[in-house]
Amino acid sequence: MEIVIIFLLILIIMLCTCFYVLSPRRSRKTNMNGCYRSIKLPPGPYGYPIIGNILDLGQKPHRSIAELSKIYGPLMSLKLGNITTIVISSPQLAKEALQKHDRFIYGRATPIVSQVHGHDKVSMIWLPTTDTQWCVLRRICKNHMFSRQRLDETQRLRQGNLRKLRDYMQECCDFGRVVNVSRIAFSISLNLITSTLFSRDLSPIDSGPNASQDVVMEIVKALIEIVSTANVADYIPVFKLMDPQGIKRRATAYVGKMFAILDDIISQRLQARRSTSMDSALANDLLDFLLDFSDSELPQNQIKHLFMDLILAGTEATAITVEWTMAELINKPKKMAKARNELKTLIGHDKQVQESDISRLPYLNAVVKESIRLHPVGPLLIPHKAEVDVEMCGYLVPKHANVMVNVWAIGRDPSIWRDPERFKPERFLDGKMDFKGRDFELIPFGSGRRICPGLPLANRMMHLVVANMIHNFNWKLEGEMKPGELDMNDKFAFSLHKAVPLKAIPIKL
Ligand code: HEM
Repeated sequence: MEIVIIFLLILIIMLCTCFYVLSPRRSRKTNMNGCYRSIKLPPGPYGYPIIGNILDLGQKPHRSIAELSKIYGPLMSLKLGNITTIVISSPQLAKEALQKHDRFIYGRATPIVSQVHGHDKVSMIWLPTTDTQWCVLRRICKNHMFSRQRLDETQRLRQGNLRKLRDYMQECCDFGRVVNVSRIAFSISLNLITSTLFSRDLSPIDSGPNASQDVVMEIVKALIEIVSTANVADYIPVFKLMDPQGIKRRATAYVGKMFAILDDIISQRLQARRSTSMDSALANDLLDFLLDFSDSELPQNQIKHLFMDLILAGTEATAITVEWTMAELINKPKKMAKARNELKTLIGHDKQVQESDISRLPYLNAVVKESIRLHPVGPLLIPHKAEVDVEMCGYLVPKHANVMVNVWAIGRDPSIWRDPERFKPERFLDGKMDFKGRDFELIPFGSGRRICPGLPLANRMMHLVVANMIHNFNWKLEGEMKPGELDMNDKFAFSLHKAVPLKAIPIKL
């Protein structure tokens, strides 16, 4: 099938190239502030007809786009298929787009995959921020699900997951077993989120060779993989009906499976709440809260859509951040020792790290910030869509354009960071800069009204998992590999993965 697509693409390109005439960059008359003016798109490379600049992106779009921005500047336009895409690569312009113009650049282009089972019509990720439903969902997240008070109340639900993690690592120490940190980070993140949402672990901590029997993990991973695959039909409308990569078909099947699991969990809870044998207050988790919530605000049949968004958006992002942080620490034993000593001194040798401890661990906080600066999970955020024509720096950001912020490039910009390629947590020790959306040099969670709603939970999970993995444990690389020799290459699949999954052996101290 892929050969047919490539053949069709080549044919279309050849036909169109016959008619292709180099034209000056598009400008148009636009009505801004009540007056009509002719205004140009930001500079950018010329593209081929039909496919535009798609071939310029290569395997690592965050890096290719960063290179192009060095030529065309921090406000650049690309054409991806038929979609005009504006790329921002400086903190000042990121602030302008995400803060000053966030009343205009607030939508999302809804890819085909988001539309299956009518998900885009009720999903926080895909609705525009002007939609009442989006506002309700964000309010639920901010005030009720991820507020400090709520997270403190649900903390006990996550403690059990961390105990299991430590028991598992202890077991690996005892038998000298290699830990697949990538897989463990994924399952622990998934379980931390589902415990918070509905008090259930959905995945064994390490399904090992029986990974295919780990049904939920398999579905979640498949969905993330489907959502992350670039779908040619999103960029070239002629392919829309054909579904040439089978993405829509697979998404429909897997979303159906995910909904069946979530429906089952919700109906079991409803049954338990009805039965007198169970005191429903025992769960007191987010599902209970949502079921108590007025049905007119969030109809019961939409809870599964919200849960799916939170599970898909939160699991991989947290897991990847934990994996990169562990990779950086294992690769730099002195930094690892410093972080571990901090835990030993401030928490104590025989105590488990609690969520309330995180704020009094400055070095651990600096380690996580430095790791996420170098390896932001969403190097280009989730693209926003301009809902009206907007003028930025005298250029046009046209209505319907996708707007990407290259946070990866900003995080490695030598005019902002000294030694940008080096892992130096010490740069954050003064505590002046944070990733909560106010410092535009470091916005791995985005900023403005679309900032990641799961940030407060992610903040607790990332620090807790890393802390529990290093508190009283040292780590040794597999085989003869020495620290400093770890492959730190990245792989872009919408999120920025570690190309080679991290595997290492914990050693009890
Ligand atoms: C290290 C962990 C995480 C990182 C780096 C991260 C990063 C991001 C980023 C960059 C965005 C897009 C912001 C934008 O559009 O400008 C986002 C959106 C989102 N995140 Fe996270 N995230 C993380 C964890 C979580 C968690 C734990 C959850 C929930 C449990 C979550 C739920 C969401 C949702 C629902 C959205 C879409 C919000 C909207 O469009 O209104 N994320 N996240």
